[in-house]
Parts: sequence; C-alpha cells; structure tokens
Amino acid sequence: MTAKQVVPLIFERSSPGRRGYRLPDLDVPEVAVEELIPAEFLREEPPELPEVSELDVVRHYTQLSRLNYAIDVGFYPLGSCTMKYNPRVHEDLASMPGFANLHPYQPEESVQGALQLMYELGEYLAAISGLSETTLQPAAGAHGELTGLMVIKAYHEYQGEGHRNEIIVPDSAHGTNPATTAMVGYKVVEVPSDERGGVNVEELRKLVGPNTAGLMLTNPNTLGLFDENITEIAKIVHDVGGLLYYDGANANAILGIVRPGDMGFDVVHYNLHKTFSTPHGGGGPGAGPIVVSKELAPFLPEPVVRKDGDRYYFHKPEHTIGRMKSFYGHFLVCLRAYAYIRSHGPSGLREVSETAVLHANYMMRRLQEAYELPYDRICMHEFVLSGVRQKEMGVKTLDIAKRLLDYGYHAPTVYFPLNVDEAIMIEPTETESKATLDEFIEVMLTIAREAEENPELVLNAPSKTPVTRLDESRAARQPVLRWQKEA
Ligand SMILES: Cc1ncc(COP(=O)(O)O)c(C=O)c1O
Repeated sequence: MTAKQVVPLIFERSSPGRRGYRLPDLDVPEVAVEELIPAEFLREEPPELPEVSELDVVRHYTQLSRLNYAIDVGFYPLGSCTMKYNPRVHEDLASMPGFANLHPYQPEESVQGALQLMYELGEYLAAISGLSETTLQPAAGAHGELTGLMVIKAYHEYQGEGHRNEIIVPDSAHGTNPATTAMVGYKVVEVPSDERGGVNVEELRKLVGPNTAGLMLTNPNTLGLFDENITEIAKIVHDVGGLLYYDGANANAILGIVRPGDMGFDVVHYNLHKTFSTPHGGGGPGAGPIVVSKELAPFLPEPVVRKDGDRYYFHKPEHTIGRMKSFYGHFLVCLRAYAYIRSHGPSGLREVSETAVLHANYMMRRLQEAYELPYDRICMHEFVLSGVRQKEMGVKTLDIAKRLLDYGYHAPTVYFPLNVDEAIMIEPTETESKATLDEFIEVMLTIAREAEENPELVLNAPSKTPVTRLDESRAARQPVLRWQKEA
C-alpha cells in the first residue's frame, strides 16, 4: 500500500478549469508580461499546476496533517528525546505582539523587557545547573556541545595549554558527543562502561593525561542510569588539568535534585526544547543554551546580557569565542522555557523530575517480565530494554518497533545506545497519566506474546499504517520526495 491510496495527492485531485481563488477586477492599467520580464526568462509553456478548489486544498493539507504523529496525538516514548506535553499557554505568550514582533536591530532601550527575560532565564539556568554564566545563543543541543567545547578549547589555549587535544567520551554517549569532539578538532578517546553501566573508572584513570582537554558526559547516561562515581570521575579529570562537559539532554531526570556544577562539571548545555518543554521534532527550532563556571565565562560567545541597576545591556565577554549564531538565539523558544520554569517554580521542577523517574521505573519493572533488562538497577527518567529474547524467536527489535505503529504508538528509540544488543530505549516522561502508561505496557506485553505465538504478525508489521514496511536504507538513500506524473 502507498500513501497515495490513502490521501489523493493534490495533483491527482486536479480537474481542468477548477479554481480555488477569484481575483478582484483589475483597477490599474494592464501591462503585458513581456514588458516586465525579459523574453529569455519567460516560460514557453505554463507550469503544470493542479487545478483545484479551495476545499480540495483544505482537505489535502488537513488529511496530510492527520498522517503525522505528534505528542498531541498520542504517547511518544522516544528515548533520549523527552517528548513531553508542551503547555498551550506558552504558545499564547510566544504570539504576544510585544514578543513576536520584536526586531533584532531594535536599540537596547526599546527591548528592555526582552533583555530582562533573557537575563533572568540565564540566571535560572545558572541556578538549576549550579554554574555561573549563560549564553542563550546555541540553536540546539548539538550546537550547545559545539559552543561548550569551543569555550573549553579557548580556555586551554589562553592558559598556554593549547597542546591538550583529547576529549574522553564514554562508549554509551549520544552520537553528537564524539561528532562535536571531532568537529572542534579534538581526538575522541573512548572510555568503556563498567558492569553497572557507568564510566569504567579504572579505565578512565589509564586514559587521562597531559593531553586531556576534557570529558563529555551525560548523567544520567543514555542507559538512563545515574553514574554514582561522578565526583571521583570529576576529580580524575580535574587532577590532570582537564575540564568536564555535561551533556544536559537528560536533565529531565535531575531538576532540583542534583546540580551538574555540584557534580564537578564546568560546562553544561540544556536542551530547552526537551527538558523545558517547547515543541520539537521534525528539525526544530530548538535551543541549547550553555552555562559555564566563573573561570570559563570570559570565553562565552558575544553578546551576553548583563544588568546594571534596572538597566539590561549586551556585553562582549573579554576573551569571547565570537558569535555562534546570528543575533541572540531562538528567542521565542527561550521565552517558552522561561514560562515553563516560572510556572513550575523550584519545587515544581523537582516534582517534574521525580515523576519522570517514577514513571520510568514503574514501566521498566512491569516490562521486565517479557523483555530482557541488561542493567537491572533503579533507572532515572528512561530505561533501556533489550529485544534479545524475542530475537531468539526470529523477531527483531525493529519488528517490535514496527508492530507498535499498528497499535497507534510512536516507537521508542531503537538500536541505541550502541552498547546494548537490540536496544529498546523508553522515556515515558512525567506528563503522561498512569492509565496511558498501563495501556502502553499492555501493548508491549501483547507484542512479546505475539512474537512467541504468532511471529508473522510482528514480522509483517505495520499493516495498519498509511505506508507499510519500507525498505529503510533505500528510502534514506534514494528518497522520492517529488510527485511525478505517471508516464
Ligand atoms: C544525550 C543527548 N545529547 C545530545 C543531543 C543533541 O540534542 P539536539 O537534538 O537538540 O541537537 C541529544 C538529542 O536527542 C541527546 O539525547
């Protein structure tokens, strides 16, 4: 089955002479198009555009939008992505003319409210992280990583330690960590995990040295496990003169409970679009502010917002690495995060994380009955199962993910982290009800039973979606993105 059979494409709705618009009578002198456009630029034939009514267009786009899956449609347990509910009040705030119509070239005096918001958001993130100063410029988490490592590099160079050329990255790291490391020109040094899923401390000791520029870590890590040795890890890296970068993409687990600064980190990025709830997926926009220690603040991108009495102003840090983004970052994403933080307050943020962790543990314990749990410990906001038991019956994790689509769910993250065979990574988030968690658990248990009793059902999934199983590598390598007239 193809999508075409479900939703006729706009070209297929075309009927000669049908129109979706009516122009008003001409009330200016008529000019021949040849007088306006040089002949060599003129088409010889009119374009083949669909001839459709307004209703055809409305139906076309409405039906297409209904093929989309979104958090507003259903449960979205995509591990490492924190697909939580995005409160509607944020959208109201972001569309207020005083924010939405701002121009980045307006003089400081005329945008004091916006500067105040940026300043205060920076302060809140500093308080949440236990660090000192913030830049809101990075456009997403990976961009925050890039900014953070560039700040670390500039710091070492300023200290006359420019020879430090290695960043240590755990084998469970998100792919953006080694990618960023390489992009900044550092060598990636991989440290293995230990049997509890944390950094192997003894191996780390062997890997650090005079060339260590730093270590990048997400804690809890991508297995959803909190590294209990974090203060020891920080000491090992600091003792050789390295710095610690905290990938805050998993911060939904720790808000108000523990601060990266107190764990020993020097730089943190936050994915505002995940932890602080702004709509994301499908490519953005996001925001990945970084917060740094006092020692690193002079290297932040310019400008940062400072306050003098009642006045807010842009400031160029003394040894700035320069601009990371035009103007000031994704202001309206930052505004939504500001609203989220203000509406929750400190105790509300703590409750967010406590609930996220509770939901994940509840689900993990119930699913353990049917799926392998490679690291059997209390998890944080997400957990990783393995589909190895089902694989022995001939049903792979990919098949399970596809079968979930038949039951109307977005699939979890699969085959990540790389250090778990047949990984299934589930992040329920705090915004779901127990009833939703239970429904999803029942479906996962049903699929495990199907894998045993009727594997064909799972192997041929999805069968209820507009598009059935695709050849995914071909779809990625030879995507057909344009409608072509059938010959
Ligand atoms: C652990 C981790 N680090 C970094 C990132 C990168 O963030 P972004 O997608 O905003 O660039 C992600 C994204 O999901 C992540 O899960």
